[in-house]
Amino acid sequence: MSRIVLGVSGGVAAYKAALLLRAFTEAGHDVRVVPTPGALHFVGAATFEALSGNPVTTDVWSDVPEVAHVRIGQNADLVVVAPATADLLARAAAGRADDLLTATLLTAHCPVVFVPAMHTEMWLHPATQDNVATLRRRGAIVLPPAVGRLTGPDSGPGRLPEPADVAALAAVVLEGGAAALPRDLAGRKVVISAGGTREPLDPVRYLGNRSSGKQGWALARVAAARGADVVLVAANVEAPVPFGVRVVAVETAEQLRTAMLAEAGAAGGATADVVVMSAAVADFRPAGVAATKLKKGSAGEPTAVELVRNPDVLTELVGERAPGQLVVGFAAETGDADADVLTHARAKLARKGCDLLVVNDVSAGQVFGRPDNAVVVLAADGPATEVPRGSKDAVAAGIWTAVAARLTPPGRA
Ligand code: CTP
Repeated sequence: MSRIVLGVSGGVAAYKAALLLRAFTEAGHDVRVVPTPGALHFVGAATFEALSGNPVTTDVWSDVPEVAHVRIGQNADLVVVAPATADLLARAAAGRADDLLTATLLTAHCPVVFVPAMHTEMWLHPATQDNVATLRRRGAIVLPPAVGRLTGPDSGPGRLPEPADVAALAAVVLEGGAAALPRDLAGRKVVISAGGTREPLDPVRYLGNRSSGKQGWALARVAAARGADVVLVAANVEAPVPFGVRVVAVETAEQLRTAMLAEAGAAGGATADVVVMSAAVADFRPAGVAATKLKKGSAGEPTAVELVRNPDVLTELVGERAPGQLVVGFAAETGDADADVLTHARAKLARKGCDLLVVNDVSAGQVFGRPDNAVVVLAADGPATEVPRGSKDAVAAGIWTAVAARLTPPGRA
């Protein structure tokens, strides 16, 4: 259990803070909500008190003997400000202490995560961008806003990311500190495949696999939080799209191949700096797809399904790799009588020709759909980096650290 301060400033997205609060308390954390006076125009103190089980005040004149304006910040393990309005970012950057939340920000020694939400014009204004740069320079994490529907008819960057995404990233910071979400992918394009392909047999049936897409989703969410421009080539995953991520939906291995080769190349305007194949791609597909539903008892009733090989997308991506581009593969391996997991993985890395291979040991039945994971990142030129067991987002952060260390510095590709 950690002590989280949830700061809420006065924007309409304050209603989502109640859901974020709920996610924190359900994860077992003790949450103290510190709204600004403006936030209480949108959500009442009673809502935050009932959901957190803690008192809620906005000014420094309550609980004076407790010295709340100092103690709340001092005692916190993490401060998350969601939504962080343009005004709140400005006051935090200026170091003001004119309400309990800004006073708390000045006394917190722990990591601080700002989750901005405002109209696009306000977000893009140089004043706001300067304030964000100041806060980041001082070590705060400022997440990029989501792109989408804003208050009224407007749409663009400025939306509060979904509470589930913020909660997942907050957990990464609780596990790994502010260093788990550096801005080391800023200005980089990363392309990630996730999910599992479906290979049709007829208009209603397919051959598929159990991949949940959770690890790929976590990779996308963490890369966006670390500043990357993220494209997620998603094979049959229903989960909501993480903020700041462009999704290309595909179904089959062939569609995934076309999308990955295009996005790794210049699709969307830029060549990818990193290409990650975390999708479970079917190695085989039915040789033919029936135009109408296969019916039992009919003349066309199948007795066997003939399969043909699918292309190996990872190997093709390696073959078409742009200068300076890193290609990362995934492998779920088990040890056997011939060799252990890492020996099999090294052989696969050499066979596929990729730069890095993220290895999952699935010997102990730790397979698809679990919320946590542990991996080893093998590099073609030698080192192996162990990423310890943690949430899939924490593992994603470990993978990105291993990848970012090998990126060519900008301008030298
Ligand atoms: N992969 C791919 N295209 C395929 C199959 C797999 O791009 N047709 C990618 C996966 O996305 C993963 C990597 O290759 O990044 C390794 O997948 P895996 O299934 O372990 O590789 P295979 O070559 O199929 O190895 P095995 O013979 O062990 O099944």
